[in-house]
Amino acid sequence: MRICAPSRFTSFPFFFILFSFFIQNVCLAKPMNVIDKCWRQDTNWRNHRQRLARCSVGFAGKMTNNIGKGTIRYIVTDPGDDPLSPQPGTLRYGTLIEGKTWITFRKNMKIKLQKVLLISSYTTLDGRGVDVHIEGNACLVIYKASNVIIHGIQIHHCKAQGPGLVMGPRGMIMPLGPMDGDAIGVVNASKVWIDHNTLYSCDDGLLDVTGGSKNVTISNNWFKNQEGVMLLGHDDSYLRDQQMKVTIVLNRFRPNCNQRMPRVRYGYAHVVNNLYQGWKQYAIGGSMHPIIKSESNDFIAPQSGNKKVVTWRKGVDRNSKPWTFYSVNDLFENGAYFKSTGKNGSVPSYNNEQKFHIAKAKIVKTLTSSAGALKCSKALTC
Ligand SMILES: *[C@@H]1O[C@H](CO)[C@@H](O)[C@H](O)[C@H]1NC(C)=O
Ligand SMILES: *[C@@H]1O[C@H](CO)[C@@H](O)[C@H](O)[C@H]1NC(C)=O
Ligand SMILES: *[C@@H]1O[C@H](CO)[C@@H](O)[C@H](O)[C@H]1NC(C)=O
Repeated sequence: MRICAPSRFTSFPFFFILFSFFIQNVCLAKPMNVIDKCWRQDTNWRNHRQRLARCSVGFAGKMTNNIGKGTIRYIVTDPGDDPLSPQPGTLRYGTLIEGKTWITFRKNMKIKLQKVLLISSYTTLDGRGVDVHIEGNACLVIYKASNVIIHGIQIHHCKAQGPGLVMGPRGMIMPLGPMDGDAIGVVNASKVWIDHNTLYSCDDGLLDVTGGSKNVTISNNWFKNQEGVMLLGHDDSYLRDQQMKVTIVLNRFRPNCNQRMPRVRYGYAHVVNNLYQGWKQYAIGGSMHPIIKSESNDFIAPQSGNKKVVTWRKGVDRNSKPWTFYSVNDLFENGAYFKSTGKNGSVPSYNNEQKFHIAKAKIVKTLTSSAGALKCSKALTC
């Protein structure tokens, strides 16, 4: 956590000069990453919550469709859940509102969802300023939706679910099949930004991007205590995942993450500026000729065991395109090494909204030191 200037001091010029000198030094001591510095230096962030939408980078682009005229502000006041008849004040009620909806939480709360929560398009979950946990049963799914932000939530101990009915977007009752028990599922969705969440200890994995999803950015999250962490594409026969594009940036993977950070089928994954502290099987891998550009990450191999190799690759796919796993400017510690496959050079081709400054791998430990849901104090900044 950083201590920056409380705004009430700014009316005293003398204090202000002294203070800004002090503050600059304190704040500059820990450089902020490219996403955070877009909003975290604002001491009045509570009154400017929607500025966050302009801070995203990578394939999701800027989330400006989620803000502006007509945005409904919805406050969750009730941790309860009724999947078939959601009550006003609950999270489920808010996530089903049509149109741009910016959801915040009145107080700290633990939400135990009775069934999977379907999040509709143009929805933002903003957990800043409070301690919100979604835990102990069903968790979140973004299904056939676009323009979704999930920020500042702790999601953990998600359990597998049997088939059942839930209310979905437009008030439709939808039959859902069995669910594996992931913290967040992104299924046939596009333009999704998942930032500053703490995800751990679920039945299946922590984050799945499947079903032909496109333009997803996964940033500043803290992943821990999980066997298989992240799946991009879940099925070798699902060719639509060839269109999948995911940026995985500034996340922290530790402790006790064993594999799949991520495991990719088809598609393009730009894995950049993440901190990996140990793994059991591997850190990054895949099947079905995905393209993985690993760039300026910090890979710290496990102290014990012989799995120093970062990468894992399943099968050789003779019929189709050659594979590409490549590493640019990564930092390898403790004997970690990367086995490249194929040629270097397939770049993410970001447009102006998507491209961002890539930091040097040697400062990734600092830049990811506040990954996960932030603790924002009342008076000061996050
Ligand atoms: C996914 O969404 C696209 C349109 O966004 C649609 O054409 C496709 O059929 C969907 N796939 C599945 C499996 O639902
Ligand atoms: C995904 O992003 C690209 C730019 O990289 C854009 O052209 C495309 O329309 C986006 N697709 C969706 C479904 O958001
Ligand atoms: C890819 O680039 C890395 C460093 O940028 C280099 O060490 C490696 O030899 C290159 N591999 C190929 C196949 O060109």
